[in-house]
Amino acid sequence: MAAKERTLSIIKPDATRRNLTGKINARFEDNGLRIIAQKRLWLTEEQAKKFYDVHKDRPFYGELVNFMISGPVVVQVLEGDDAVALNRKVMGATNLANADEGTIRKDFAESIEANSVHGSDSLDNAAREIRFFFSETEVVG
Ligand code: CMP
Repeated sequence: MAAKERTLSIIKPDATRRNLTGKINARFEDNGLRIIAQKRLWLTEEQAKKFYDVHKDRPFYGELVNFMISGPVVVQVLEGDDAVALNRKVMGATNLANADEGTIRKDFAESIEANSVHGSDSLDNAAREIRFFFSETEVVG
């Protein structure tokens, strides 16, 4: 039986700039993910650097941080059966060139960096990323 999970999602600055928050949220809801916490934030450089610390040695780290602080983001907790894997399926591949038809990134991403959404890649990282943005009382399942 599928386990009920929670995952952290971020609607990125390229998507908030194009007013796509509602359209992206509809993709989550239409695919069985419930938005059980959500807030719009403008990340500080310090927050973006800390959030993406796992990528600090990658060549794209500096640009990624600058992109993530270039406009508002919407951080959210999604809940559902196998939510971590399900959300990754709904988002599509990181690089839109490899993203399947009908996925968020295939339909909305502008580039590998401005790829509209972030989603946790494992249950452990989901717990860590949810704690990074939300207190217990802000998550209402
Ligand atoms: P995300 O799922 O948020 O995780 C790391 C992000 O780095 C990724 O989505 C992309 O937006 C960004 N990125 C930029 N360049 C690359 C790259 N070459 N490979 C992977 N991720 C990249």
